[in-house]
This record gives sequence, structure tokens and C-alpha cells, in this order.
Amino acid sequence: MTQKTHKVLKQAKSRALIDSDTYHDWYKQSVKNPEKFWGKHGKRIDWFKPYTKVKNTSFTGKVSIKWFEDGLTNVSYNCIDRHLKTRGDQTAIIWEGDNPYDDRKITYNELYDQVCRLANVLKSNGVRKGDRVTIYMPMIPEAAYAMLACTRIGAIHSIVFGGFSPDALAGRIVDCESTFVITADEGLRGGKKIPLKHNTDQAVAIAGRSDVVVKKVLVVQRTAGKVDWFDSRDIWYHEAVARAKPDCPPAKMKAEDPLFILYTSGSTGKPKGVLHTTGGYLVYVSMTHQYVFDYHDGDIYWCTADVGWVTGHSYIVYGPLANGATTLMFEGVPNYPSPSRFWDVIDKHQVNIFYTAPTAIRALMGAGDAHVTKTSRKSLRTLGSVGEPINPEAWEWYYNVVGEKKCPVVDTWWQTETGGIMITPLPGATDLKPGSATTPFFGIQPQLVDNDGDVLEGTAEGNLCITDSWPGQMRTVYGDHERFIQTYFSTYKGKYFTGDGCRRDADGYYWITGRVDDVINVSGHRMGTAEVESALVSHDAVSEAAVVGYPHDMKGQGIYCYVTLMEGATGGDELRKDLVRHVRNEIGPIASPDKIQFSPGLPKTRSGKIMRRILRKIAEDDFAALGDTSTLADPTVVTDLIDNRQNKK
Ligand code: WTA
Repeated sequence: MTQKTHKVLKQAKSRALIDSDTYHDWYKQSVKNPEKFWGKHGKRIDWFKPYTKVKNTSFTGKVSIKWFEDGLTNVSYNCIDRHLKTRGDQTAIIWEGDNPYDDRKITYNELYDQVCRLANVLKSNGVRKGDRVTIYMPMIPEAAYAMLACTRIGAIHSIVFGGFSPDALAGRIVDCESTFVITADEGLRGGKKIPLKHNTDQAVAIAGRSDVVVKKVLVVQRTAGKVDWFDSRDIWYHEAVARAKPDCPPAKMKAEDPLFILYTSGSTGKPKGVLHTTGGYLVYVSMTHQYVFDYHDGDIYWCTADVGWVTGHSYIVYGPLANGATTLMFEGVPNYPSPSRFWDVIDKHQVNIFYTAPTAIRALMGAGDAHVTKTSRKSLRTLGSVGEPINPEAWEWYYNVVGEKKCPVVDTWWQTETGGIMITPLPGATDLKPGSATTPFFGIQPQLVDNDGDVLEGTAEGNLCITDSWPGQMRTVYGDHERFIQTYFSTYKGKYFTGDGCRRDADGYYWITGRVDDVINVSGHRMGTAEVESALVSHDAVSEAAVVGYPHDMKGQGIYCYVTLMEGATGGDELRKDLVRHVRNEIGPIASPDKIQFSPGLPKTRSGKIMRRILRKIAEDDFAALGDTSTLADPTVVTDLIDNRQNKK
């Protein structure tokens, strides 16, 4: 394969915070003496009481991860108060509504006022330090206020993406026993309304069956659509905030006090509550935000993610605001009202740094260059990509057409668990190779191992592990530390296992090849095949289900479901539609199956284990390479599966 390299751009080098020599120098220091390196960079945030201990971490035994443990700080203080003297009147958040005529600018002074008021509303409704607050919101500034208000008083937020169903929301409310929910009447995306309050009402009822009683629901009025109202439980956000005091002292938090829980999918079981803590997380996200995007004071920065995902947490809210940036928050979708929307918004607000997902890039590439070229995009300086592997064609289009060869593309690899960006180019330091996330950030020590755990050196392909801790790392699975150890540190003893496959080339560049476990990545949304399977089998007609991913031109991966039916049920398009509806209700629209194949049986080993390798191959229409099927209990099943495959090329 011929592989293109794009040398560091002159214009990027001339202004960059980090050049190539500095990168290598700092990287060496960071892995040679992490205490010294992070001891220094930990000071980039303000501490009420400085730390004296920097790193106290172990990936073996009970696995314990502590950074800056004796320091005291507060996240909202760092994201707001400390900027007021120098940039109180600077815009903190540019809000761009779903409708292009709808926008708003919020200064740091206004942010302070809004967050303090909301923090007081939380307090007066009984929310205390350590309590869990669920946030189920559209992309409106109040979502950021809600996060920051929680951090101000030391409450732990758990954001649930607005696209999740009432069932999924209920499961997350119950898991962390959250009794306070913040939502909106309705969300608005691409001109369509999303019934968030209605979903919340249902979720609260479902949670009640597990004895988790939600006491208060705070409701932002977004569309003024009609909603049901429960006087003893529901509170209008605008009324409560108007009455609240405009000052609220920030709680002095220990560095290792929990900051937030974010549920994410794994290969087995229910989604896990990934727990991030206060000090190390903020140091790591602010530092990566500054250096990865080469952020300079005054830059307008836009990350198109939703705050319901980790990218929104770290790179719409916490990283940028900790750095005193102007961060743009977008309520809508890339193709509404036209496929020029992203580029129009960039021109309208003079965006300098733009961070989005490959799935959006591919979709917009498909819409044709004219939608891009008719816009100016002169303000752009750095382009970023995140969430899934970016194919070289999409990378080149992003670089050539969107960036007109003037903007480095930073392909950033990381995970909900890692808190912040781990493997990434730095704009003024790293030569770029389309499709490669390139080299590790400061302090990150990647390692490739084979399936036996043997370390692979040099040019190699294997399972990606990280051998030592970094400040942004998750600390535990909320309420289940054993699961934390089992999931991440037991496959390869003493190492954090990412679940990703990866290749390292002769230049030491890393190429993420995708998940090696039963997690699929659909349009940058992470999903456990087990979750979709359990949604399918909860349907009356379904006896058994196996779900795999397959390559999808737009979404990266599509969801392919093999379903065996109950006695008496018949498979057909009607049932297919019904199953799709059912999965959307159970999880949410992001989990909609793309293909459903009815089959009399699934390929199993004699011990009853489903052979997913075979199912993956059939879903990819690559059954010439099925490999050894002799261990199957009933090899004839495979013939039927092949004959009735849904992805014939
Ligand atoms: C995938 C999103 C290739 C990967 C921040 C990872 C990527 C999972 C990239 C985490 C990238 C993320 N190149 N693959 N630049 N970024 N991934 O938790 O498989 O939603 O394990 O975090 O997305 O998804 P998550």
C-alpha cells in the first residue's frame, strides 16, 4: 500500500505551541519521570490547597489510581471564576441553535451568574456533595450550566444522551441511584422535536419499580411544547433560577472526589458507569485541549459532539472552559437546513478550530464538494477527527476540500475510559499520515501485545494496551470496582487493555484497526452487541439473537442481527419492522438494526458458544474465508446462513 505523508505545514509550525523537538523532549521527560512532569503541569489549574503527592497508581492487585491526591480544587472555579478578572466579558459559549436564525453568546460573567444560581437551586432542593444528578438534555447552554453547577457543589453528574429511550434512561438512573433529574420540555434537531420530558416521565416511572424514587425533575423550557406536569415533583428551570441567589461559593473538592459518571457500552452486560474524578481529569483535558488543537488565547473553538458523550464532556465543556476559551455549542445536525451547515456556522462565527467525527465527514463528502466550496472557511486553522477510524479517502477530503491544504488534521484516538485524547498528532510537531492517529500524547505509553499477552516490538499488529497511568484515566466502574479490574486489567495482567486492535508502522506511528471485542462503533456511537441482543430477545417472537458489526460506507459499522424465532412465529418484513421498532424503544434510535436475518439456528460450538467469527464473515459477505467450521455442533446451520444472507454483494 502506498502511504502518503503530509509534512508539518509551515504555517502550523510557525505559530505552534509545541514543535517536533519539544514534543520528543517533553515526551521523554513525561515517561521517564511522570511525577516530575505531571507535578509541573498539574499547576496549570488553580488549587485551593496545592498537592504534595503527584502520582500514586497501581495496575495490579486491587488496581488503585490516584493523582494529586492531597490537593483541593473545584472544577467550576477553574472553568469560570479564575477567568473573571481577565476575561469576564469575553464570550465563553457561543450557542448555535438548530434553526440558523437562533443563536446566543454567553460571557464568562454570565456563565458565573447562571451556574451559581443553578447551584443554589440544586442546594435548595436537597442536592448535596456526592449525590448523583442525571442530566438528560438537548444541546443548549443550560446543559453546560447543569454540569458546572453540579461541580460547584460537589454533586456527581451522570449525563444520558438525549437520543436514549426511557428504558435506557431509567437503567442509568437506577444504577447510580440518582434522585434528581434535569431535562427540557423537548429537544430540537434537524427541525424534529424530541419528547425529553415525556421520556423522563416514563423513565421515572420505570425507575420507581426498582425502588429508586426520583424526587425532583427540573425542566428547561426549550420549545414550550405541551408536557404533563407533576406539581410535587416538577420544577420549571427558568422560574427557580430567577428566584435563586446569584452567588454560590465553590465547594473545596479533593482531587480524587468523583466528578462525573458516564455510562458506556462494553462487550458484556449492561453499560458501565465510568467514573472520572476531579483534579487529574481537569489537568489532563485542559492540557490536551491546548496542545492537541494548538489552542491560543482568543481562538474560536468548535467541537460538534453532543454533551451526552465523553467528547462533549471533555472537549466542549471542561477542557475549553478550563483554558478560558470560547467554545461553540451546536444544537442541530450537519445536514440541516442544508449540507453546508457546518461550513456556514464556521463562517458565521469565524471558527478557528473544528473538531468532528468521521461519520459526519463521510456524509458531507457524499453530499458533494459544492456545499463546501461555496463557503469561505478562511478562519479555519486546525481540523480534528474523533470517535472511529477515519478512512484515508475521508481524511484527504477533509484536508484538501474543507481545509484547502492549509489546516493540519488531528486524528485523535481515545475513549470514554481514558478521559482525554491519548494518541494524536500535534499540529506543529507531527507529520501526518491519513488514517493514522500517529503518536502518543505526553505521558501515554502504548504497547501492542498478541493474544497470549506477549509484547510485540517494532512494526507489529496486536491488541492495544497502555502500560502506565495518566491523570485523565477513569478510576473505577461506579459501584463495581471488581468489574473495573476484570474489564480492563485482567486480560493482560498489569496493563490497561483498551479493547482496540492496532498496528504500529516502521516510523512508530499507531493505526487503530477497530475493536477486537464485542463492541461495535456505529456512526461514532459505541454499542455493545450484547445490549442489542438482549433488546431483541425481549421481543415475544424472538428465541435467540446474535449481533455483529459489518463495514458500512457511511456509518463505519452497521448492525447485523441474526434472529431465531419462537415456535409458531414467522419471519418476514413485517416482523423485521417490528423488531427495529422494538430495539429503538428499548435502547434508542442509534441502535436501530440495519440488517435482520431470520435463521433456524445459530452456529455454536459443542459447548454451546456462538461462533461470532463465522457470523461476522457472513455479514461481511466474505464466507469464502469462513475458516475452520469443524468444531460446530451442526455445520449445516452455516449453509442456511449463507443462502439467506442479507448483505449479498
Ligand atoms: C474508537 C470516544 C480510531 C475506538 C472518544 C475506541 C477511534 C472507541 C478513534 C471509544 C480514532 C475513538 N481512531 N478509533 N481517532 N477515536 N475510536 O468511548 O474503537 O465513545 O475504543 O470514546 O472509539 O469510543 P468512546
